[in-house]
Amino acid sequence: MVQKVVLLGAGGKMGMRITPNIKDEPSYEISYVEISEKAAQALKEKHGVTSSPGSEPVKSADIVVFAVPDKLIKNVSADIVPQMKTGAMVIGLDPAAHFGEVMFMREDLKYFVVHPCHPSLFPFEDGISEAAQRDWFGGTGAAKMDMVCAIHQGSDEDYERGEAFARLMFKPIDKAFRITIDQMILLEPALVESITAPLVKGMRMAVDACVEKGVPRDAVMSFVMGHLKVQFGVLFDFAGFPFSDGANLALRNAMDVIFKPDWLENIMNKEAVEKSVHDITHELND
Ligand SMILES: NC(=O)c1ccc[n+]([C@@H]2O[C@H](COP(=O)([O-])OP(=O)(O)OC[C@H]3O[C@@H](n4cnc5c(N)ncnc54)[C@H](O)[C@@H]3O)[C@@H](O)[C@H]2O)c1
Repeated sequence: MVQKVVLLGAGGKMGMRITPNIKDEPSYEISYVEISEKAAQALKEKHGVTSSPGSEPVKSADIVVFAVPDKLIKNVSADIVPQMKTGAMVIGLDPAAHFGEVMFMREDLKYFVVHPCHPSLFPFEDGISEAAQRDWFGGTGAAKMDMVCAIHQGSDEDYERGEAFARLMFKPIDKAFRITIDQMILLEPALVESITAPLVKGMRMAVDACVEKGVPRDAVMSFVMGHLKVQFGVLFDFAGFPFSDGANLALRNAMDVIFKPDWLENIMNKEAVEKSVHDITHELND
C-alpha cells in the first residue's frame, strides 16, 4: 500500500537533503510543504519538486516529517498535529522537541524520532572512495552511515514503519540502533553538541595559534591530523598500543589545566541537559 507522506520544511537544510532520497520512491507519495518562497524556489531548482505553503496535505497523510527548526516545533506542531488523521505518524529529526515536551501530543498518533549518526571518522572498509571520504553529513549516496531511532509513542510495529522510512530518508543506512528518547538526548545535545563540538573547536583554535606563532599551516595540519589518528587509535582502543611515557605525562598534566573539575557531570547532569533542551526548543527570551 502506498503511504502518503508530508515533508514539512522541505526547502530547509534537512528537507533539501531528504528530498532527493524519497522523491522517486514508488511506495510513498510525497507532498512538500514549505512556507518560505525562497526555500520553495531553491527546492524546485535543485530537486525539481513543487511545494505548497499550505498544510492541506497533512489531513490525509500517513506520515508527517517535521523538518522545521526546533524553536518553531511548539507552534508548528500545535497547528499541524490536530489536523492529522488517527493512526498517522509524526517523525521528528531531533529528540529535543520530544524530550522537552514541546511537540504537540495526541494519544491516537504515533511518534517516531530519528537522528543520523553521520559517516564514521574511521569507516574501516577496504577501497573506500574519495567521494565517501568527503561525505561529511551522509545521506548523499556516497558513504554509508548508521542512525539512532526511538519510538516516543507507539508499538514495535510502528517502530518498524518509522525505521523503514528513516532508512530511505538517510540512505544508504548501515545499522539502525533502537534507543529511547532519554538516551538520544544524552547523545545530542549533551555528547556531540555540548562536549565533542567544543573540544574539536578547541583543537582548531590551537592549530590557528600555532600558525599565528609562525609554524607553516601545511606543516601544522599534517602534524595534527596524523597525531589525531594515533590519539583516537590509542584512546578509543583501536590501536592496541599505548602512548609513550612522555606523552602520557604531558596529557595528565594538561588535563587539569584545560578541564574544570566536574566538567563532564556539569554537562551530563539532568538539569543541564534539560536547560540545553529548553534553549534549543524555545525562542530566545521566551
Ligand atoms: N541541520 C542539521 O544539520 C540537522 C541535523 C540533524 C537533525 N536536524 C533537525 O532537523 C530539523 C530541521 O532542521 P534544519 O536545520 O533543516 O532547519 P532549517 O532552518 O534549515 O529549515 C527549516 C525549514 O522549515 C521551513 N518552515 C518553517 N516553518 C514552517 C511551516 N510551518 N511549514 C512548513 N515549513 C516551515 C523554513 O522555511 C525552512 O525552510 C530540526 O529538528 C533539526 O534539529 C538538523
